[in-house]
Amino acid sequence: MTKNTIQSIKGFKDILPDEVGYYDFIENVIAHVTEQYSVSQIRVPIIEKTELFNRSIGNDTDIVNKEMYDFIDKNGDSICLRPEGTVSIIRCALEHNLIYDRGVKKQKFWYYGPMFRHEKPQRGRFRQFNQFGIEYFGFKNTESDIEIIFLLNLIFERLCIDNGITLHINSLGTKEDRLNYKKIIKQHIDKNIGKLDDNQKKTLKNNPLRLLDSKSENMIDILEGIPPLYDILSTESKSRYDLLLKKLDSMKIQYIHNNTIVRGLDYYNDTVFEWRHELLGSQNAICAGGRYDNLVEELNQTPVPAIGFAMGIERIVEILKHVNQSLSEIYNIIPIINITSENNTYCALQCRELREIMPQKRFFNTDSTSSLSSQLKHAMKMNSHFIILITDENIKDSSFTVKTHANKMNDIIVTKDKLLEMLSELHDDDCSVQDELDDDFETPGEPDE
Ligand code: HAM
Repeated sequence: MTKNTIQSIKGFKDILPDEVGYYDFIENVIAHVTEQYSVSQIRVPIIEKTELFNRSIGNDTDIVNKEMYDFIDKNGDSICLRPEGTVSIIRCALEHNLIYDRGVKKQKFWYYGPMFRHEKPQRGRFRQFNQFGIEYFGFKNTESDIEIIFLLNLIFERLCIDNGITLHINSLGTKEDRLNYKKIIKQHIDKNIGKLDDNQKKTLKNNPLRLLDSKSENMIDILEGIPPLYDILSTESKSRYDLLLKKLDSMKIQYIHNNTIVRGLDYYNDTVFEWRHELLGSQNAICAGGRYDNLVEELNQTPVPAIGFAMGIERIVEILKHVNQSLSEIYNIIPIINITSENNTYCALQCRELREIMPQKRFFNTDSTSSLSSQLKHAMKMNSHFIILITDENIKDSSFTVKTHANKMNDIIVTKDKLLEMLSELHDDDCSVQDELDDDFETPGEPDE
């Protein structure tokens, strides 16, 4: 790159070929799990009217106040790059009578795509980032909260990142509960008002709940001893939350009741949650959401209870890289090494046949013009536990040479049928190669027992 090379905009990141596979993997898991739960996909535009978000997310939230990519277009209209998906999905669902048509219609939708927020870029925080989200409409009872938690746990399991994840959960109660609690926060902080910096004073005035999730030490000290929001919840919200936690306990779902989960968007009520991963830095929320039973009514005078979440895909990619999940392990990419001296069409035809018979497997042909050792080096770099070699000897008797982890990567000569059997025993979805391959094949150099 020379000095004059134009670079990307701060906070906007390129996704290079090495990384795209992680996105593919995550998207495949999402597509599969949403299908299992019969959630329908919706695709909405990236640009919306600015007013849509101003009216719904909350004028005193960071997103609306300072992070919107809004501008006046050539027609003089105020439009913006969407900062999140929930409100767009509601706009779309109302516009097409999907969730209300002379009565509430129960619907489950998912979406995936880029969101835009003019935040301060840092590790795990971008100005363009991808979210996968789900929104359930028309479902009011705790079963829907639980279904969402189950669905997410299944996704984390399939992504093999379920270790290190913690579910933090809280209840924000009703609008009235929050108004009462805001008064309590103000009273509590009043005697220490001199210790607040200008930003904290502004938050105290406009959105005091946000002080609860402040990471600054002076605020943590000042808030010490404040009664938790839970204590002043209305009877209905409290019993709903108690019932939810009781059900989670009885189903042995791990969670942390966390009073400081207040969320950065104004539309929530009752259940709110955040999944955090221990491997990430300060931006450790990989997925967050909650109930927003009043938002649809605020936008359209039609009461539709709702719950949803959104997951930050870049943060999931970071975890996958952290846990050392190489793409070849995720996908079980199987390298094929061609070391035939001539008759290269034989190898190409065999590979074509393998791909036809096993469409779900991913094969990678290494560069056949390179030496055996450099092809092997390349295969090893891919962390593959299963390598296929085709040699001149193999051509003579229509066999294959195979190196497997289970067999300490020694050469094994197998017939095509045996190769297919071994390949079909490799698990595609458990992030690792099945170690227990049958050992009823010939291993050169090893005496017969
Ligand atoms: P949110 O908490 O603003 O909620 O975002 C959800 C997730 O998106 C976060 O937990 C994080 O993983 C990811 N995320 C947010 N901002 C960034 C960023 N600047 N860079 C990278 N990742 C980011 C919402 O957006 C709500 N619409 C969620 C929801 C759906 N609530 C109900 N339904």
